[in-house]
Amino acid sequence: MLLVTGGAGFIGANFVLNTIATSGESIVVLDSLTYAANPANLETLVDDPRLNLVVGDVGDRSLVRSLLEQHQPRALVHFAAESHVDRSIAESDAFVRTNVNGTHALLEESRLFWNQLAPQSRDRFRFLHVSTDEVFGSLGPQDPAFNELTPYAPNSPYSASKAASDHLVRAWHHTYGLPTLITNCSNNYGPFQFPEKLIPLTIHRALAGESIPVYGDGSNVRDWLHVSDHCTAIRTVLEGSSPGETWVIGGNAERRNLDLVQTLCDVLDRLRPDPEGRSYRRLITFVTDRPGHDQRYAIDAGRLRDQLGWTPAKTFESGLEETIQWYLNHGDWLENVTSGRYRDWISQQYSGRQG
Ligand code: NAD
Ligand code: TYD
Repeated sequence: MLLVTGGAGFIGANFVLNTIATSGESIVVLDSLTYAANPANLETLVDDPRLNLVVGDVGDRSLVRSLLEQHQPRALVHFAAESHVDRSIAESDAFVRTNVNGTHALLEESRLFWNQLAPQSRDRFRFLHVSTDEVFGSLGPQDPAFNELTPYAPNSPYSASKAASDHLVRAWHHTYGLPTLITNCSNNYGPFQFPEKLIPLTIHRALAGESIPVYGDGSNVRDWLHVSDHCTAIRTVLEGSSPGETWVIGGNAERRNLDLVQTLCDVLDRLRPDPEGRSYRRLITFVTDRPGHDQRYAIDAGRLRDQLGWTPAKTFESGLEETIQWYLNHGDWLENVTSGRYRDWISQQYSGRQG
């Protein structure tokens, strides 16, 4: 079985659902259910004996120890993190606590657990750390895409905390021999993404008839990957990679934010036309830029393709339309996660920011 941290969040929940559906392997999820989590993401598995959701903090070493001892997982897949750049700029404490100290706690408990395993289980055990391409910093328009040899140059409190956690994982392999793997993936999109991130935020606000905030001039570029392709890549690395390796994962789908937001509006115009025939593009509003905003991310996932045979299954166009359709079909989910504390964040983040 697998121990999956952060399995009630966006990517973690997709990973749990995909993995149980495709392999049938049992999963214990450890998740502290922060604002970004939603146990309803896993509700289709609520009565399934293959899923066990444990509410707790990755920094709680005695809890982590007891889960490892009790369930004897063949791997720990670590998604749990504070993941939103804007929140890290507003308040960074939780980023250091979870991303740095939490990862350290998991590494130490995994090392103690792994040390006392029988040789066969020791050889098989993996600690897979899910990280981001943001640790590599920002690219200029003509720079080659990030690959596994790109030096670290994190720019935001979020990416700095993820970079720190990557370094800890690397050191636990180098020093103690813990069989670790690191994946650095580009921006994900798909079902269950919390609507503080650009794509679900745009869909949610367009449907509500609210302004769609584009930071700066909208020229920043992100490389988008559908979450199901990210999950397949993680499983590919888990099964196929030697310990100590790192892999970059990306969708080969670079888009300028403004173009992306316009495309979202155009697809919504087709799938959910405004009763008065107006385009959602009218809601696009340029707002004050994010401090330290990275200009461009891009991934060259050629090594993962050539050595482990992974390529994304979805094109950006088909993945995006499918995703928009998912949000249109799951109005209740969107409604649920955008009440209360969400509204507080949106007003704190966007009021007084008109560019
Ligand atoms: P998310 O914010 O949607 O979910 C994070 C999950 O971790 C939540 O369920 C939350 O409750 C849980 N969590 C947070 N702190 C915890 C703690 N102290 N103990 C236990 N659980 C805790 O994030 P996501 O977008 O699903 O990202 C998952 C991972 O993938 C993160 O490590 C992130 O850095 C990485 N990543 C994300 C993207 C992206 O585009 N979203 C891209 C590349 C890498
Ligand atoms: P986001 O989804 O927060 O992901 P990340 O910062 O990790 O890349 O943002 C994606 C891009 O969209 C990023 O360049 C910032 C920009 N953005 C906006 O223009 N407006 C918004 O309201 C948000 C949340 C992001």
